[in-house]
Amino acid sequence: QKRIGILTSGGDCAGLNAAIRAVVHHAIGTYGWEVIGIQEATHGLMHRPPKSTRLDIEGIDQLLLQGGTILGTTNKGNPFAFPMAGGTFQDRSAEIIAGYHELKLDALVGIGGDGSLAILRRIANQGNLNLVAIPKTIDNDVGATELSIGFDTATNIATEALDRLHFTAASHSRVMVLEVMGRDAGHIALSAGIAGGADIILIPEIPYNLDNVAEKIRQRQAQGKKFCLVMVSEAVRTELGDQVTQISQQGEDRYGGIGKYIAEQIATRTGAESRVTVLGHIQRGGIPSPADRLLGTVFGVAAVNLIAEEKYDHMVAWKNREVVSVPIAEAIKTYRNVDLHGTLIKTARGMGICLGDDY
Ligand code: F6P
Repeated sequence: QKRIGILTSGGDCAGLNAAIRAVVHHAIGTYGWEVIGIQEATHGLMHRPPKSTRLDIEGIDQLLLQGGTILGTTNKGNPFAFPMAGGTFQDRSAEIIAGYHELKLDALVGIGGDGSLAILRRIANQGNLNLVAIPKTIDNDVGATELSIGFDTATNIATEALDRLHFTAASHSRVMVLEVMGRDAGHIALSAGIAGGADIILIPEIPYNLDNVAEKIRQRQAQGKKFCLVMVSEAVRTELGDQVTQISQQGEDRYGGIGKYIAEQIATRTGAESRVTVLGHIQRGGIPSPADRLLGTVFGVAAVNLIAEEKYDHMVAWKNREVVSVPIAEAIKTYRNVDLHGTLIKTARGMGICLGDDY
């Protein structure tokens, strides 16, 4: 008999609730354990009494379809240097460990991206807590897993956005630039760009030259194709290496920007009329795709099994069409960027998509 906690940490995404639902179902239905939902990530454990709610099988059925996270989340405030009043910082990790004990937990399921998982692991090591992890992030950049919860839905949304831009681009003979999320990785831009038929895809992993971009547009114009779809990852810099899309140290101020820069440069260099769309947090909202519901469910069940085996300090991962487990340490030390020699880059090049380099 165990009493386990579950929390979601970092930016939300679609499919988190599917994972919560699966943990509750399997832990209670199969093992007869108790499940405590911790609210607002580690902040909930800092609070006295800890912000938590008992989760039961009754009432969780709608969760498969629900975006976001019923537990709430935050990506603000590293507990080891937590921002306090007066501009000071304080290590509050001991309060989180105390919160875990106050709730009388035997184990904790932490759902997070690479940053959150690194923090959770450090806290677990410090307090000897039993942690298992589930990877989530629309960016799909968690190491040691091919997929993280949320990426598929975000990619679907970005593809649909490109589909919609396609027709208006064609009607007005315009260059349409779509800026998508991804923080430091180009996975969403590359996958949605190929799926949505982009002519040009710019990702942070490949340095680009605007002359190549302009040349691609001119080539299309010469072929009588007057419109062009350009997919740009938010993590792309200006040609001079400046970061245009601002992410403040607290991760707060995000206004988009590199898409606008690229659209302006294209108009100046080619004379084409251009427009930009910054997709932003729309990529994190909405109903989870079937693939994310499936992955969330698979990961939720597997995470409970890890606790049953007492295989702590491990993360569930997706590899070769199977769920496996890997040490959390492995996941957080290997950041997952776009593989420049991988299938998707080869596919993009094979389709004549301009990636901005001199290839
Ligand atoms: O990591 C997920 C993500 O959506 C990134 O793609 C994006 O850069 C960032 O989070 C946005 O963070 P915030 O929610 O703080 O605006």
